[in-house]
Amino acid sequence: MAIPPFIIIAIDGGAASGKSSSSKILADRFNLLHVDTGSFYRHITYELLRRGVSHTDLPNLKAALADLKFTTRLNGRSAQMLIGGEPASSEIRGQNVNDHVSHYAAIPEVRHTLLGYQRGQVDVAKQHGFRGLVMEGRDIGSVIFPAADFRFFLHADPAERAKRRAKEGGQDSIAERDRLDSSRKASPLTCPAGAIDIDSTFISLDQVVEKMAALIAPKLK
Ligand code: CDP
Repeated sequence: MAIPPFIIIAIDGGAASGKSSSSKILADRFNLLHVDTGSFYRHITYELLRRGVSHTDLPNLKAALADLKFTTRLNGRSAQMLIGGEPASSEIRGQNVNDHVSHYAAIPEVRHTLLGYQRGQVDVAKQHGFRGLVMEGRDIGSVIFPAADFRFFLHADPAERAKRRAKEGGQDSIAERDRLDSSRKASPLTCPAGAIDIDSTFISLDQVVEKMAALIAPKLK
């Protein structure tokens, strides 16, 4: 019997577009490593803020980035990024990080620091016997894995997304983050040519997942 291939699924989209929920369900259903790259940018942002390194101070920022050591720990099927052996604080979802993350994420040196680490999650997934990985973010299908087996891009009306985020609680100006993420020069948030565009404004999370799963399942047979 042929061994099923290791598959890579990229899910990109704006803030609160349903990337995390859909990718976690796919990870459980198909035994994939779930990689939330937004949590990596959030963790770095938290760490740089904690060290008092401003995103406008490039020399200090570069020195701080060179000092960060990244490793991975599994939390169920999700890859948790550790910095200097430490997991992210729950504050990476708080208002301060929400307000700053897009500014740090716009800096090419910050993105470059995470590039190899993100691609290295393929080895982590293989070492732990996963059948593939599902990675969510803003530039996964465009920059990190442009040759991924599946590249999805999730759209949803900004008002609907703001409602979803408010339901989760917390303060988050998602429209402002989308504006910054889409207009930056380095790896902007964009639906890459050839990606499968799904508008989730009027369909449920289950329906989004079923659309994706219907395409993925045959590849894993
Ligand atoms: O889940 P949510 O939509 O709130 O955002 P996230 O995925 O946690 O990402 C937080 C921020 O990280 C984004 O607003 C981007 O500025 C940045 N990010 C990025 O630039 N590239 C990625 N691949 C993932 C996140």
